[in-house]
Amino acid sequence: MEPATLQPLSQQANDEKVCNQEFKDLLSSLPKERGLAPTYSYQYQGFWYSPLALQGVINCQNHFEPRKNDVILVSAPKSSTTWLKAIIYTLINREVHPPQNPHHPLLNKSPHQLVPFFELLDPSEYDAVCNSSESSTRIFATHIPVGSLPKSLRDDSSSSNCRIVYLCRDIKDNLVSLFHFANKVNMRPSPISLEEAFDLYCKGISAVGPIWDQILGYWKESLQKPHKVLFMRCEDLKNEPRFQLRRLAHFLGKPFSLEEENSCLLDQIICLCSFDTMSKLKVNNTGHLKHGISNSSFFRNGIVGDGKKCLTADMASRLDQITEEKFHGSGLFL
Ligand code: A3P
Repeated sequence: MEPATLQPLSQQANDEKVCNQEFKDLLSSLPKERGLAPTYSYQYQGFWYSPLALQGVINCQNHFEPRKNDVILVSAPKSSTTWLKAIIYTLINREVHPPQNPHHPLLNKSPHQLVPFFELLDPSEYDAVCNSSESSTRIFATHIPVGSLPKSLRDDSSSSNCRIVYLCRDIKDNLVSLFHFANKVNMRPSPISLEEAFDLYCKGISAVGPIWDQILGYWKESLQKPHKVLFMRCEDLKNEPRFQLRRLAHFLGKPFSLEEENSCLLDQIICLCSFDTMSKLKVNNTGHLKHGISNSSFFRNGIVGDGKKCLTADMASRLDQITEEKFHGSGLFL
């Protein structure tokens, strides 16, 4: 099953054909399973990927050079990454592009265009990413687990000083969102049943799964390196947006000034990036990303608690049980 590099069927069919010999040798050495996608999923450094996603991970590991002030947003697919991409972009660029500006870039470009995923870029494109008004700040997103990030990104002694923002979401909501997304982008010739999606998700054979291991990795990193990794929850962003915005702005080294606090800036950012605003924009209802996924597939209903409504009681309690077991003793509760 794919990460945000989830691709429609037509692209996936070619996945295994396009790789070079070295990559083919790597694939043949890895455990593989049938996931939600028509191609096999491969287990690499403890997590499951499509061949295309894995190629992206390896490209990053081999070629990505962090720069001073880079910001990296990490999440599991369907954790509301689109939302936080929009927020981080708006926060960082608020002087040049105030959120009430009628020509704000987010009104004409998808958050995924403005903040690209590492894994979807060719290494030659890393340097061209210039999504910030501050020339030294690049903003990327990724689904790569902490242990598989390029070493230079994790390295505290590196001069890059880049910051990592990790976003997680309630597990049940995440699964339901993933299930709908998989069917919307036609990952399989025939629709995937919720039961099948649930089964694979619990086994960890889902987008950069097991999701619990990805979350826990970044949780621990955020405890050990609070200056480097900020751990955020989608539900907190929903329930206390102003507080979370301040926390994020502070972490990114761009705290709100008193003047900004006393203006309507925070509410304007919240409003611009809201599901209501974003999901109605033409740009988010038309067009496709690089690998053929429609921009509209990133917007469904954007609510908290959908998982509980859509899953059976048995499914919900099984997910709760796995979550409890996996996070036991970590201090993390979802
Ligand atoms: P639902 O399927 O539950 O509606 P990702 O961005 O990681 O691919 O996750 C997609 C999920 O984020 C979808 O959840 C989508 O509706 C939700 N989402 C996208 N933009 C949002 C926004 N601006 N505010 C809140 N949720 C948003």
